[in-house]
Amino acid sequence: MSISLTPARIFEWLREEEASRLNMLWELADGARRRYVGDDVHLRGLAEISNHCVRRCTYCGINTGNNDLPRYRMDAAEILGCAREARALSYGTVVLQSGEDRGLSQSFVSEVVRAIKGETGLAVTLSLGERPEEDFGEWKRAGADRYLLRFETSDRLLYERVHPSLRGKRSDRFSLLRILKKLGYEIGSGVMVGLPGQTFESLARDIESFRDLDLDMIGVGPFIPHPTTALGRKPTATGLDDVPATELMTLKVVALARLVCPEANIPATTALSTVNMREGYELALQRGANVVMPNITPAKYRALYQIYPGKSLAGGNHEDSCALIRGRIEALGRGIGTGPGGRRRIKPVDRLMS
Ligand code: 5AD
Repeated sequence: MSISLTPARIFEWLREEEASRLNMLWELADGARRRYVGDDVHLRGLAEISNHCVRRCTYCGINTGNNDLPRYRMDAAEILGCAREARALSYGTVVLQSGEDRGLSQSFVSEVVRAIKGETGLAVTLSLGERPEEDFGEWKRAGADRYLLRFETSDRLLYERVHPSLRGKRSDRFSLLRILKKLGYEIGSGVMVGLPGQTFESLARDIESFRDLDLDMIGVGPFIPHPTTALGRKPTATGLDDVPATELMTLKVVALARLVCPEANIPATTALSTVNMREGYELALQRGANVVMPNITPAKYRALYQIYPGKSLAGGNHEDSCALIRGRIEALGRGIGTGPGGRRRIKPVDRLMS
């Protein structure tokens, strides 16, 4: 199910600057959000299980070239501990995220997923980068429910520049996402907004790709330069007409994502809340988003997973941050989702009656 929005309209919305017209976009997106996924906001506990990475992404603070960064990898007991904590905080899903870490073997991840499913019954989302199809298949059989893999940009040249392929192996996240879907995963993807060299045309195509992939989950955040990366050291503007990495532009993409994939689960992302700590979550939740992913990484690892600066500042005690985020959601008049909070497909008849 998707709401008809032509490529030309998507482009125009991205270019729109007039406040009264943008209010129409916010209302359309918020209306679609309410109608298709309801008022509840689902919470997913995010555990960053390893900061090892083989890739050289020029935007990301944990890329393999960052030699000064101490590397960590949680053991099975630590990861299970995170899942227990997610359950104790009444989150319905635990998300296991890492750099692209060859040290996380297929069998290790399978065993961890089996243990989490067996003990907690939580929905399990994996976000472990590009892996062979066999790994994805094994992890699905072990009980994993969802996989997150942002394609970052649909502009192939820009993608190669910021996310270089490994020697002899072309990185093709679109084809991996289709494989994941065939294997039975709910699939999540998304992009960064305001990558240096990103054009409005390519960002409009990114949003059309959300619809073409029929994404179950869509995560978008502003690009935030990291000082130890190639993109963070250079001045960020490379073209006069590049997409700005602003809060407003990110909110437009969140709203448009809701319109092209009305049934999707869309988080108010940490990156957005980093550029606007005071009300980044609120604004996203009122313009299409319906998910928040509180961080449950143990404190001792938290600062080592700085994919962009400022990210670990919102740290502290997990119980307190959980209470805080619940309070902020309730203050918006929204409920807190219970259960796994997977994608619900709306049958045509339900749509007519709603
Ligand atoms: N700024 C914003 N987002 C970033 N990500 C990685 N590095 C940055 C950055 N510097 C995003 C990517 C990745 C996700 C986990 O975090 O989109 O897929």
